[in-house]
Formats: sequence, structure tokens, C-alpha cells
Amino acid sequence: MADTEPTFWDDLTSPVNIVLMSIIVYLVYKIIKSHFETVEVPPPTPEIPKLRKDMTVAELRQYDGTNAEGRVLLAVNGIIFDVTRGKRFYGPGGPYSAFAGKDATRGLATGEVAAGDKDWDDVSDLTPDEVASAKEWEDQFKEKYDIVGRLLRPGETPKNYDEDSEDKKLQ
Ligand code: HEM
Repeated sequence: MADTEPTFWDDLTSPVNIVLMSIIVYLVYKIIKSHFETVEVPPPTPEIPKLRKDMTVAELRQYDGTNAEGRVLLAVNGIIFDVTRGKRFYGPGGPYSAFAGKDATRGLATGEVAAGDKDWDDVSDLTPDEVASAKEWEDQFKEKYDIVGRLLRPGETPKNYDEDSEDKKLQ
């Protein structure tokens, strides 16, 4: 019986071709992987010193991320958090920049990405559900961000958070 000519399939599955195809698949995988790796590298965030300070609403307003230091603070339920690490959320142009440098309690409680410009918002008109929602945000922020201090009502005096101060612990 005469030998039959090798078919296309025989050529394709020859050991040499299988090795070549494996190399191609591996290289394509490496190219795609390296592409995603370079896209996902976040820009380095410069370290800024910790801040421990009670502030009025007016003082808080300065920390919206637009100053030279780039620090971003916001307040929830009277507690000021340093959310600079979450700058992609709260920094200029971020989806929640309306909360930067503001008392975000009402917005977070009601689900509205906006903050008022009052000197003091006592939020006493919030519903129990809204109060609970604000409390959840507060707990989430406590897990993730550093506490800076308390948001001062008009007339309230700031605590002294110096190392040797009796006041340094937040209540
Ligand atoms: C269509 C509605 C919404 C979508 C799809 C959405 C989506 C998201 C996503 C994907 C994140 C990032 C989560 C992460 O990477 O950890 C985020 C963060 C956040 N969202 Fe929304 N969101 C919505 C509505 C809202 C509303 C109504 C509020 C409050 C008024 C809100 C407040 C926030 C805040 C404060 C953060 C940042 C949390 C942090 O600092 O870790 N979002 N949102």
C-alpha cells in the first residue's frame, strides 16, 4: 500500500507546530498581562503628616484637596476624618468631591451627593433610617480613615490633642 500524503491536520499537530503555537500563546498572554499591569499602576501618593485638630465648619472648608498639601477632610456625625487616601473619590473632579471639606452627614444620610454651606447643620430633622445610614458611613470611615478631631458647633472650644494633654483622647 502506498504512503498517503500528510494532511493539513497532520501538519498542524506536528510536534514542531505544537511547540511554536505554545510559544505564541504564551507571548500573547504576556503582552496582554503586561498591558493591564501598566494601566493599573496607581500614581504614588505623597505622605503628609497626621493631623489632630478640632475644627469649625469654616476651617474644615479649607481641606477640600485644592490646597498645596492636597489634604482632604470631611465630617460625618460631628467627627472629622482624613480621607486623603480616598482622593480619587473626594479630590477635585472626583465623584464625591461635593463632600470634600464639608459636613457630609446630611448627604450621606439621604443619599444625595451634595453638602450644604451652613455654618452648622444640626441634622435633627433626619428620619431614623437616615440617621442609621449616616451611622453606617461613620463606622465605615472609622475602619478606613484616620480621625482628625471633632467638628465644632458655633461657640464650642477645640480640645488640645498635644501628647501630654489630658484631652488628647477623642470621646
Ligand atoms: C448609582 C449609584 C452609585 C454607584 C453605582 C456608586 C458606586 C460607587 C463605587 C464603585 C464606589 C467605589 C467603592 C470602592 O472602590 O471602595 C463608591 C464609593 C463611594 N460612594 Fe458611591 N455609588 C453610588 C451612589 C452613591 C451615593 C448616592 C452616595 C452618597 C450620597 C455614595 C457615596 C459614596 C462614597 C462616600 C464613596 C467613597 C467611600 C470611601 O471613601 O471609601 N455613592 N461608590
